[in-house]
Amino acid sequence: MNFLEILAKFDHNLRPFIVERFPKAGTFIYSRGRKVFLNMLASEPIDGRAEIPESYAKTLWDIKFKSPLFNAAGMFKYGDGYVTVQKQGAGAFLCGTSTAGYRSGNRKDKVVHPFISYPKSESASNWMGLPNYGHVDLARRVQSIVKKDGCPIGASISITPEDEGKVAINGLLDGLKLFQKTQADFIEVNESCPNVQHQSGKDAGNGLDQYLIDRLEAISTNFLKIREKNLPIIVKFSNDTDLELIPELIKILIDLGFDGVNFGNTSTDYKYVKSILNPKDKKAFDYFTENFGGGVSGSVLKNKSYNLCKVAADIIKQKDLKTEFHIIRTGGIQDYEDIKASEEIGVSLNQWYTGYFEAFAKYGNDIYLRMFE
Ligand SMILES: Cc1cc2nc3c(=O)[nH]c(=O)nc-3n(C[C@H](O)[C@H](O)[C@H](O)COP(=O)(O)O)c2cc1C
Repeated sequence: MNFLEILAKFDHNLRPFIVERFPKAGTFIYSRGRKVFLNMLASEPIDGRAEIPESYAKTLWDIKFKSPLFNAAGMFKYGDGYVTVQKQGAGAFLCGTSTAGYRSGNRKDKVVHPFISYPKSESASNWMGLPNYGHVDLARRVQSIVKKDGCPIGASISITPEDEGKVAINGLLDGLKLFQKTQADFIEVNESCPNVQHQSGKDAGNGLDQYLIDRLEAISTNFLKIREKNLPIIVKFSNDTDLELIPELIKILIDLGFDGVNFGNTSTDYKYVKSILNPKDKKAFDYFTENFGGGVSGSVLKNKSYNLCKVAADIIKQKDLKTEFHIIRTGGIQDYEDIKASEEIGVSLNQWYTGYFEAFAKYGNDIYLRMFE
């Protein structure tokens, strides 16, 4: 076991004690600790132990993914960490989310990029506010990666939430055009961050508002229809998306020429989350949501992501599509049972964030190996 693996195990045992009793201190410690841990993870020299059985490999959109699971957006916001996850056996590396320009992200009560985990519920809350150095910086980092077979690179990008109309759309289009010139293999457009104020006046990602449709149409006309190479574009929505909107949403995405959809991002459905949260985590949950708000991730999203993906996959099955359109599931992915359930309903790829850290505490750098053994 290396130092990081020992640290993760130690923290895994200590964390319930801190979070249950001292939510405020827990928020302070884990908002900072999460970043320190990620920096160490991204710069950690590990040996290439994860030989994932070839039977799990998938070729989608002519791109080979050596397993159907990889990190969700926001884990490697600044583009570091490729070597670590590639050696661990991830099916891809997803960096970002980046926006048109630098963003410092959210800060309140001396807490920068607030985050807390709910250990007994294997879940977490964050109120980050999309901190990043902008598309140009992320694109430069993507270009510096030494890419390996079976671990393609994805870039997650978003509009600058405070921008309006054409300015917002142009910032996003600039990002798409920029990443098209890099070695990125696919792009995920993040239409779902709950932790930022949108000029449209709406919460992100729960419905089909005209601003969203305008953006999707602009991407279609100004990018998808004139793409210079095979660069699949998927759109990521919230796990709070209304199930009844899925048929219309999928139709729009396919008609406009998108290549896939991801359900999804964190939830702000606090009432539902609280109803299934472990009672021991409720004090911390109340503290965080009352002071920061934020989006909830982890095990509590398992059913939401499953239900959204199932409805979407059933619609896809009924269509006679001429091009590939894939469903990606994110939210509460923790173990092989989740991957199996996804496969059964027609999900092509899975992403994990909160579950990754739970699994790392148990299995260290063997996480993908253990998953697909
Ligand atoms: C600390 C943190 C930061 C995140 N940042 C982003 C982000 O920048 N872009 C994005 O699309 N999703 C972001 N997410 C959402 C995750 O990508 C994922 O959709 C969500 O956590 C649900 O997956 P999980 O249950 O496996 O954690 C973030 C999540 C967390 C916990």
